[in-house]
Amino acid sequence: MTTSSLADRTTTAAARATDLSKIYGQGETQVVALDRVSVDFRQAEFTAIMGPSGSGKSTLMHCVAGLDNFSSGSVRIGDTELGSLKDKQLTRLRRDKIGFIFQAFNLLPTLTALENITLPMDIAGRKPDKEWLEKVIRMVGLADRLTHRPSQLSGGQQQRVAVARALASRPDIIFGDEPTGNLDSRSGAEVLGFLRNSVRELGQTVVMVTHDPVAAAYADRVVFLADGRIVDEVHGPTAESVLDRMKRFDAKGRTS
Ligand SMILES: Nc1ncnc2c1ncn2[C@@H]1O[C@H](COP(=O)(O)OP(=O)(O)OP(=O)(O)O)[C@@H](O)[C@H]1O
Ligand SMILES: [Mg+2]
Repeated sequence: MTTSSLADRTTTAAARATDLSKIYGQGETQVVALDRVSVDFRQAEFTAIMGPSGSGKSTLMHCVAGLDNFSSGSVRIGDTELGSLKDKQLTRLRRDKIGFIFQAFNLLPTLTALENITLPMDIAGRKPDKEWLEKVIRMVGLADRLTHRPSQLSGGQQQRVAVARALASRPDIIFGDEPTGNLDSRSGAEVLGFLRNSVRELGQTVVMVTHDPVAAAYADRVVFLADGRIVDEVHGPTAESVLDRMKRFDAKGRTS
Protein backbone atom coordinates (compact mmCIF):
# COMPACT_ATOMS: atom_id res chain seq x y z
CA MET A 1 0.00 0.00 0.00
CA THR A 2 1.21 3.48 -0.80
CA THR A 3 -1.71 5.29 0.81
CA SER A 4 0.29 6.68 3.73
CA SER A 5 3.03 8.10 1.53
CA LEU A 6 0.37 9.70 -0.63
CA ALA A 7 -1.26 11.37 2.36
CA ASP A 8 2.15 12.76 3.33
CA ARG A 9 2.48 14.57 0.03
CA THR A 10 -0.52 16.72 -0.58
CA THR A 11 -4.24 16.33 -0.91
CA THR A 12 -4.64 19.12 -3.45
CA ALA A 13 -6.36 18.00 -6.62
CA ALA A 14 -4.45 18.75 -9.79
CA ALA A 15 -7.69 18.00 -11.62
CA ARG A 16 -11.18 17.22 -10.45
CA ALA A 17 -14.36 16.09 -12.17
CA THR A 18 -17.67 16.51 -10.37
CA ASP A 19 -20.87 14.82 -11.58
CA LEU A 20 -19.39 14.79 -15.04
CA SER A 21 -21.67 13.49 -17.78
CA LYS A 22 -21.08 13.18 -21.50
CA ILE A 23 -23.86 12.15 -23.81
CA TYR A 24 -23.33 11.54 -27.51
CA GLY A 25 -26.22 11.75 -29.96
CA GLN A 26 -29.92 11.91 -29.26
CA GLY A 27 -32.94 9.66 -28.91
CA GLU A 28 -32.45 6.12 -30.22
CA THR A 29 -28.78 6.57 -30.96
CA GLN A 30 -27.95 8.29 -27.66
CA VAL A 31 -24.85 7.01 -25.87
CA VAL A 32 -24.17 7.94 -22.26
CA ALA A 33 -20.37 7.81 -22.37
CA LEU A 34 -19.95 9.31 -18.87
CA ASP A 35 -22.65 9.05 -16.23
CA ARG A 36 -22.13 11.52 -13.36
CA VAL A 37 -18.48 10.71 -12.72
CA SER A 38 -16.77 12.35 -9.76
CA VAL A 39 -13.05 11.82 -9.38
CA ASP A 40 -9.99 13.65 -8.07
CA PHE A 41 -6.53 13.40 -9.55
CA ARG A 42 -4.29 14.52 -6.72
CA GLN A 43 -1.02 16.35 -7.20
CA ALA A 44 2.02 14.13 -7.36
CA GLU A 45 -0.10 11.04 -7.84
CA PHE A 46 0.05 8.51 -10.66
CA THR A 47 -3.45 7.30 -11.51
CA ALA A 48 -4.32 4.55 -13.99
CA ILE A 49 -7.77 4.36 -15.52
CA MET A 50 -8.94 0.92 -16.57
CA GLY A 51 -12.14 -0.62 -17.84
CA PRO A 52 -13.59 -2.48 -20.81
CA SER A 53 -13.52 -1.03 -24.31
CA GLY A 54 -16.25 1.59 -24.62
CA SER A 55 -16.48 2.18 -20.86
CA GLY A 56 -15.63 5.88 -21.24
CA LYS A 57 -11.91 6.01 -20.38
CA SER A 58 -10.83 8.21 -23.29
CA THR A 59 -13.94 10.35 -22.96
CA LEU A 60 -13.21 10.98 -19.28
CA MET A 61 -9.63 11.91 -20.00
CA HIS A 62 -10.51 14.16 -22.94
CA CYS A 63 -13.17 15.99 -20.93
CA VAL A 64 -10.93 16.52 -17.91
CA ALA A 65 -8.07 17.66 -20.13
CA GLY A 66 -10.24 20.26 -21.84
CA LEU A 67 -10.03 18.53 -25.23
CA ASP A 68 -13.72 17.76 -25.42
CA ASN A 69 -16.82 19.48 -24.09
CA PHE A 70 -19.15 17.72 -21.68
CA SER A 71 -22.92 17.60 -21.24
CA SER A 72 -23.18 18.43 -17.54
CA GLY A 73 -21.19 18.60 -14.34
CA SER A 74 -17.91 20.42 -13.86
CA VAL A 75 -14.18 20.02 -14.35
CA ARG A 76 -11.41 21.86 -12.59
CA ILE A 77 -7.72 21.99 -13.45
CA GLY A 78 -6.04 23.32 -10.33
CA ASP A 79 -8.26 26.23 -9.29
CA THR A 80 -9.66 26.85 -12.74
CA GLU A 81 -13.19 25.84 -13.66
CA LEU A 82 -13.04 24.74 -17.33
CA GLY A 83 -16.68 25.64 -17.96
CA SER A 84 -15.92 29.28 -17.16
CA LEU A 85 -13.24 29.64 -19.84
CA LYS A 86 -13.53 31.12 -23.30
CA ASP A 87 -11.96 29.17 -26.16
CA LYS A 88 -8.76 31.18 -26.14
CA GLN A 89 -8.33 30.82 -22.39
CA LEU A 90 -8.94 27.09 -22.65
CA THR A 91 -6.33 26.78 -25.38
CA ARG A 92 -3.82 28.64 -23.24
CA LEU A 93 -4.58 26.52 -20.18
CA ARG A 94 -4.11 23.33 -22.20
CA ARG A 95 -0.84 24.62 -23.61
CA ASP A 96 0.61 25.81 -20.31
CA LYS A 97 -0.66 23.29 -17.78
CA ILE A 98 -1.37 20.04 -19.54
CA GLY A 99 0.73 17.45 -21.35
CA PHE A 100 -0.81 14.78 -23.56
CA ILE A 101 0.36 11.44 -24.79
CA PHE A 102 -2.10 10.17 -27.35
CA GLN A 103 -2.73 6.62 -28.50
CA ALA A 104 -1.99 7.79 -32.06
CA PHE A 105 1.13 9.80 -31.49
CA ASN A 106 -0.02 13.02 -33.20
CA LEU A 107 3.47 13.96 -34.32
CA LEU A 108 3.99 16.48 -37.10
CA PRO A 109 5.50 14.60 -40.06
CA THR A 110 7.55 17.53 -41.38
CA LEU A 111 9.36 18.16 -38.09
CA THR A 112 12.28 16.23 -36.66
CA ALA A 113 11.97 14.30 -33.41
CA LEU A 114 13.57 17.14 -31.45
CA GLU A 115 11.37 19.76 -33.11
CA ASN A 116 8.31 17.68 -32.28
CA ILE A 117 9.40 17.41 -28.65
CA THR A 118 9.86 21.16 -28.21
CA LEU A 119 6.92 22.22 -30.42
CA PRO A 120 4.45 23.06 -27.62
CA MET A 121 7.05 25.25 -25.95
CA ASP A 122 8.03 26.85 -29.25
CA ILE A 123 4.39 27.74 -29.86
CA ALA A 124 4.12 29.15 -26.36
CA GLY A 125 7.33 31.13 -26.88
CA ARG A 126 8.96 29.38 -23.94
CA LYS A 127 12.58 28.28 -23.78
CA PRO A 128 12.99 24.65 -22.77
CA ASP A 129 14.96 23.93 -19.60
CA LYS A 130 18.02 22.46 -21.32
CA GLU A 131 19.07 20.13 -18.52
CA TRP A 132 15.56 18.75 -18.09
CA LEU A 133 15.12 18.34 -21.84
CA GLU A 134 18.36 16.37 -22.08
CA LYS A 135 17.28 14.21 -19.17
CA VAL A 136 13.93 13.48 -20.77
CA ILE A 137 15.53 12.65 -24.11
CA ARG A 138 18.08 10.37 -22.45
CA MET A 139 15.43 8.59 -20.42
CA VAL A 140 13.26 7.84 -23.44
CA GLY A 141 16.37 6.74 -25.35
CA LEU A 142 16.09 9.12 -28.28
CA ALA A 143 19.45 10.90 -28.14
CA ASP A 144 20.59 9.36 -31.44
CA ARG A 145 17.29 9.90 -33.27
CA LEU A 146 16.72 13.60 -32.71
CA THR A 147 17.12 14.66 -36.34
CA HIS A 148 14.89 11.87 -37.70
CA ARG A 149 11.39 12.61 -38.91
CA PRO A 150 8.47 10.51 -37.65
CA SER A 151 8.35 8.49 -40.91
CA GLN A 152 11.96 7.45 -40.23
CA LEU A 153 11.14 6.21 -36.74
CA SER A 154 9.61 2.95 -35.58
CA GLY A 155 6.19 3.03 -33.91
CA GLY A 156 7.75 2.63 -30.49
CA GLN A 157 10.24 5.42 -31.16
CA GLN A 158 7.43 7.70 -32.30
CA GLN A 159 5.56 6.98 -29.11
CA ARG A 160 8.67 7.84 -27.12
CA VAL A 161 8.87 11.18 -28.94
CA ALA A 162 5.26 11.78 -27.90
CA VAL A 163 6.10 10.91 -24.29
CA ALA A 164 9.11 13.23 -24.33
CA ARG A 165 6.98 16.00 -25.82
CA ALA A 166 4.45 15.71 -22.99
CA LEU A 167 7.15 15.74 -20.32
CA ALA A 168 9.42 18.38 -21.83
CA SER A 169 7.51 21.45 -20.67
CA ARG A 170 6.97 20.02 -17.17
CA PRO A 171 3.21 20.54 -17.23
CA ASP A 172 1.07 20.46 -14.06
CA ILE A 173 -0.61 17.28 -15.21
CA ILE A 174 0.10 14.70 -17.89
CA PHE A 175 -2.63 12.62 -19.49
CA GLY A 176 -1.74 9.50 -21.45
CA ASP A 177 -4.18 7.37 -23.45
CA GLU A 178 -2.45 3.98 -23.55
CA PRO A 179 0.95 5.68 -23.76
CA THR A 180 2.77 2.37 -23.87
CA GLY A 181 0.25 0.48 -25.98
CA ASN A 182 2.56 0.49 -28.99
CA LEU A 183 5.82 -0.23 -27.22
CA ASP A 184 7.62 -3.52 -26.71
CA SER A 185 7.70 -4.53 -23.06
CA ARG A 186 11.21 -3.21 -22.44
CA SER A 187 10.60 0.27 -23.90
CA GLY A 188 7.20 0.25 -22.22
CA ALA A 189 8.76 -0.48 -18.84
CA GLU A 190 11.28 2.33 -19.38
CA VAL A 191 8.60 4.84 -20.21
CA LEU A 192 6.42 3.74 -17.28
CA GLY A 193 9.41 3.84 -14.95
CA PHE A 194 10.18 7.35 -16.11
CA LEU A 195 6.58 8.48 -15.62
CA ARG A 196 6.62 6.98 -12.13
CA ASN A 197 9.93 8.64 -11.28
CA SER A 198 8.63 11.99 -12.48
CA VAL A 199 5.75 11.53 -10.00
CA ARG A 200 7.92 10.35 -7.11
CA GLU A 201 10.87 12.66 -7.52
CA LEU A 202 9.46 15.74 -9.21
CA GLY A 203 5.87 15.79 -8.01
CA GLN A 204 4.51 15.38 -11.53
CA THR A 205 0.84 14.39 -11.73
CA VAL A 206 0.09 11.63 -14.23
CA VAL A 207 -3.20 10.10 -15.38
CA MET A 208 -2.93 7.15 -17.73
CA VAL A 209 -5.45 4.95 -19.49
CA THR A 210 -4.27 1.38 -19.91
CA HIS A 211 -5.57 -2.12 -20.58
CA ASP A 212 -2.43 -3.70 -19.19
CA PRO A 213 -2.36 -4.78 -15.51
CA VAL A 214 1.44 -4.67 -15.55
CA ALA A 215 1.38 -1.04 -16.71
CA ALA A 216 -1.33 -0.20 -14.17
CA ALA A 217 0.88 -1.58 -11.39
CA TYR A 218 3.27 1.37 -11.92
CA ALA A 219 0.50 3.70 -10.74
CA ASP A 220 -0.33 4.71 -7.16
CA ARG A 221 -3.97 3.96 -7.72
CA VAL A 222 -6.23 2.40 -10.33
CA VAL A 223 -9.72 3.70 -11.07
CA PHE A 224 -12.05 1.26 -12.83
CA LEU A 225 -14.75 2.45 -15.21
CA ALA A 226 -17.69 0.45 -16.53
CA ASP A 227 -20.55 1.86 -18.60
CA GLY A 228 -19.46 5.43 -17.95
CA ARG A 229 -19.28 5.08 -14.17
CA ILE A 230 -16.51 4.56 -11.66
CA VAL A 231 -17.11 1.14 -10.21
CA ASP A 232 -13.96 0.44 -8.19
CA GLU A 233 -10.62 1.77 -7.06
CA VAL A 234 -7.40 0.03 -6.00
CA HIS A 235 -4.60 1.74 -4.07
CA GLY A 236 -1.05 0.49 -4.33
CA PRO A 237 -1.93 -1.87 -7.19
CA THR A 238 0.04 -4.92 -8.19
CA ALA A 239 -0.44 -6.65 -11.54
CA GLU A 240 -2.08 -9.52 -9.63
CA SER A 241 -4.53 -7.37 -7.67
CA VAL A 242 -5.51 -5.51 -10.84
CA LEU A 243 -6.00 -8.74 -12.78
CA ASP A 244 -8.09 -10.05 -9.92
CA ARG A 245 -10.44 -7.02 -10.05
CA MET A 246 -10.69 -7.27 -13.83
CA LYS A 247 -11.72 -10.92 -13.55
CA ARG A 248 -14.40 -10.00 -11.05
CA PHE A 249 -15.88 -7.46 -13.45
CA ASP A 250 -15.80 -9.96 -16.28
CA ALA A 251 -17.63 -12.48 -14.12
CA LYS A 252 -20.26 -9.87 -13.17
CA GLY A 253 -20.66 -8.89 -16.80
CA ARG A 254 -21.41 -12.49 -17.75
CA THR A 255 -23.89 -13.21 -14.97
CA SER A 256 -25.91 -9.99 -15.14
N1 LIG B 1 -17.91 10.86 -31.26
C1 LIG B 1 -18.70 9.93 -30.73
N2 LIG B 1 -20.00 9.81 -31.10
C2 LIG B 1 -20.79 8.88 -30.55
N3 LIG B 1 -20.41 8.01 -29.60
C3 LIG B 1 -19.14 8.07 -29.19
C4 LIG B 1 -18.21 9.03 -29.72
N4 LIG B 1 -17.02 8.85 -29.10
C5 LIG B 1 -17.19 7.85 -28.24
N5 LIG B 1 -18.45 7.36 -28.28
C6 LIG B 1 -19.02 6.28 -27.47
O1 LIG B 1 -18.81 6.59 -26.10
C7 LIG B 1 -18.46 5.40 -25.37
C8 LIG B 1 -17.15 5.62 -24.63
O2 LIG B 1 -16.09 5.73 -25.59
P1 LIG B 1 -14.56 5.88 -25.16
O3 LIG B 1 -13.80 6.18 -26.38
O4 LIG B 1 -14.47 6.83 -24.03
O5 LIG B 1 -14.26 4.40 -24.63
P2 LIG B 1 -12.90 3.79 -24.07
O6 LIG B 1 -13.20 3.30 -22.69
O7 LIG B 1 -11.80 4.76 -24.23
O8 LIG B 1 -12.70 2.52 -25.01
P3 LIG B 1 -11.34 1.86 -25.65
O9 LIG B 1 -10.75 1.05 -24.56
O10 LIG B 1 -11.88 1.00 -26.76
O11 LIG B 1 -10.47 2.96 -26.14
C9 LIG B 1 -18.42 4.28 -26.38
O12 LIG B 1 -19.62 3.56 -26.30
C10 LIG B 1 -18.31 4.98 -27.70
O13 LIG B 1 -18.94 4.23 -28.73
MG1 LIG C 1 -10.08 4.79 -25.49
